[in-house]
This record gives sequence, structure tokens and C-alpha cells, in this order.
Amino acid sequence: MHLFLDTTDVAVLKTLAATGLVDGVTTNPTLIAKSGRPMLEVIAEICEIVEGPVSAEVAATEAEAMLAEGRKLAEIATNVVVKVPLTRDGLIATGQFTREGIQTNVTLCFSAAQALLAAKAGATFISPFIGRLDDYGAEGMDLITEIRAIYDNYSFDTEILAASVRTPAHVTQAAIAGADCATIPPAVFEALFKHPLTEKGLEQFMSDWAKTGQSIL
Ligand code: E4P
Repeated sequence: MHLFLDTTDVAVLKTLAATGLVDGVTTNPTLIAKSGRPMLEVIAEICEIVEGPVSAEVAATEAEAMLAEGRKLAEIATNVVVKVPLTRDGLIATGQFTREGIQTNVTLCFSAAQALLAAKAGATFISPFIGRLDDYGAEGMDLITEIRAIYDNYSFDTEILAASVRTPAHVTQAAIAGADCATIPPAVFEALFKHPLTEKGLEQFMSDWAKTGQSIL
């Protein structure tokens, strides 16, 4: 399973990328606004840090304008993935990007029917929003399961990118449900490393080791 970081915070990205565990990055207009920086500059910087896919989202809502923006974003670096919303225009643009060899991440997916259309349009990634479905009173993870079954039935290549991830359990449940990737906020990524019993066990081992008076080196 590929793990992406959902962030525009370059300093945080550098720290987590140093673990060798960050396979890609996703951004969205909200995260760009949060960074307070010009989008093209931030995306270029992220692409220098991470070799894997870096999603950069169009701001237009009409297909031709999405295509113009997406082509400009794709010029930033070869690992840019153009992110488009799951609308009729978004899928028209996705089809054209696919024909042009530009990778796409179809975002704001909330149903299996939408995911089926995105795959037929040739999307590289589909982003089902787990947390926002949970907030809405639905079971977000069920959507991953449904999309996995549909994509497997028809051998679609589109990768399922679990998005709107809020907890470490979302990551593991998405992995069990067969998501190809998950995009994870930095705080949740940090939490993946941790377990109270790991900390307690390490404390005990270090304490007992100190009593031996030994040194390995
Ligand atoms: C990533 O591609 C999405 O934009 C992101 O995961 C959305 O997360 P949120 O629902 O927490 O804003």
C-alpha cells in the first residue's frame, strides 16, 4: 500500500519524507490557502522533495478551463498528478488528460457509481473521502470495499486512494479493504508509528539494559 502525505507544509513533509515512508503527496485548494504561498511555487518545491505522485488540484469548474489549468500544472514536474473534481466536466477533462498522457486524481468521490465513471474516464487515481462520509452519518469505509469489488470485477487500472483520512484506524481499515493508497494528514501519519505498549516496553528494556552496565559498541 502506498502512503501519501496530505499536506502543503514543506517543512513537515521534509521531516516525514526522511523516513523513506512517504510515497507521494496530495494537496487541495484548502491546503494551498492554508500554506499562504503561491500554488505553483509550493507544488514545485514538493515535487523536488518527493519522487512519487504529487496531486495538484485545478480551480476551474468547466472542462476546457480545467484542461488549460491542468496542462500548466503538469508542466511543473513529471510527477505532478492533476486533481479534478468528480463532476461531469471533471470527467470530460479526465478523459482528455488521459489521452494526453497526463495523470489524474479524481477527487470528492462519495459513491461507487461516481468511482465507476472515473475509472471509465481513465482516471489514474480515484479519491473516495472516508472521513467526510463518516461525518455525514455514512460508513465511509464501505465505499472503499464497494469500489474495490467493482474495479476488480472489470480489471480497471485506476488506483483507489483513500482520502479524508482522520485516524490510524482509517489507514488500516482502508488497507484491509484493498485501497491501493491512502493520503494521510501529518498528525495521523505521526500517530501510525506509535503504540503505548511500544513506549512502555522500550522504557522497560532500556531500564533493564542500563542495569547490565554493558555497551554493544
Ligand atoms: C486529499 O486528496 C483530500 O483533499 C483530503 O484528504 C481531504 O481531507 P479532509 O476531508 O480532511 O479535508
